[in-house]
Amino acid sequence: MNVKNEIGVQALKWTGSSLQVLDQRLLPEQVSYHEYRDAGGIAEAIKVMQVRGAPAIGIAAAYAVALSVMRHCQDGAADWRVEVEHDFEALAASRPTAVNLFWALDKMRQALDYENVDPVASAVATAEQIHDDDLEGNLRMGELGAEVLGDANSVMTHCNAGALATGGYGTALGVIRSAHRRGLKRVYACETRPWLQGARLTVWELAQDGIEATLIADSAAAWLMKNGKLDWVVVGADRIAANGDVANKIGTYSLAVLAKQHGVKMMVVAPMSTIDFAIETGDGIEIEQRNQAELLPDCYLREDSLVHAWNPVFDVTPAELITAIVTERGVVMNPAQQGGVRSLKT
Ligand code: MRU
Repeated sequence: MNVKNEIGVQALKWTGSSLQVLDQRLLPEQVSYHEYRDAGGIAEAIKVMQVRGAPAIGIAAAYAVALSVMRHCQDGAADWRVEVEHDFEALAASRPTAVNLFWALDKMRQALDYENVDPVASAVATAEQIHDDDLEGNLRMGELGAEVLGDANSVMTHCNAGALATGGYGTALGVIRSAHRRGLKRVYACETRPWLQGARLTVWELAQDGIEATLIADSAAAWLMKNGKLDWVVVGADRIAANGDVANKIGTYSLAVLAKQHGVKMMVVAPMSTIDFAIETGDGIEIEQRNQAELLPDCYLREDSLVHAWNPVFDVTPAELITAIVTERGVVMNPAQQGGVRSLKT
């Protein structure tokens, strides 16, 4: 079986002059792509979560910079760098937690720093490389993670860390795809309130590949573990601190605490672009707070309402609750005992 033919649904399609973005807000009912030719539109698409998932956000931002350079250079404007800088700022302000966004913007900035290179060619080639490298990394992590899972029968995932969230194949779902080929029997997906990435995206994505999945309410996780039905929790990440603390979708920390209580193992799968070596511990990670409208029924969205919502959309799982961190560069087992993920730094 050629794994390259099985990269899953594409969240992002680069045409050479535009970026087609799958509107993930409409899934699973509707598969619809929006075409962008400007960076501002893509920054907004990231903000409203038309495209979401840490690596996909980074890739979209890279193409956005490429489109910005194309547009402003072609205008022949002497000050094109000023215009492009405005787009860098808008993209950097779109979402705060996934470090892949800032990593990709840094790469794009470096691509424009060389003298005597065509800025358009350099920006486009760099964005395409970021996309290709992400897919390749996912395929590698899929195999590495599946080896760590060994003959596990049953895994649970949270949020969506699949092809929809990456350049293709997925991080956590990439491992699940690879493990499924090796005989993994059962996949549970948490609903992932409030945005329902699990219910709307993960089970849909797996079904597209013919992989059966069982959806559970987030609040059913403890009971599932208590009944001995789970070997591993397998999740992605938005930012990993040097000590191995992991920021991921809200609810991941709860699952890690429950996993420890029930003897279930916890795997985090993420590319090197998700590791932020500049941050020592998870305390340094900014956690995005989204609008309370994502949680509250419309009747409470009035100025004079007495009902409010607190809506942090990520949390931090301490390294000591994690059994394995899988990257394309290698696996760190029991990161808290290994000094975090520092061994992966080159
Ligand atoms: O708010 P989202 O949907 O962007 O959150 C996504 C997650 O938390 C994913 O688990 C993470 O980005 C890893 S995606 C490979």
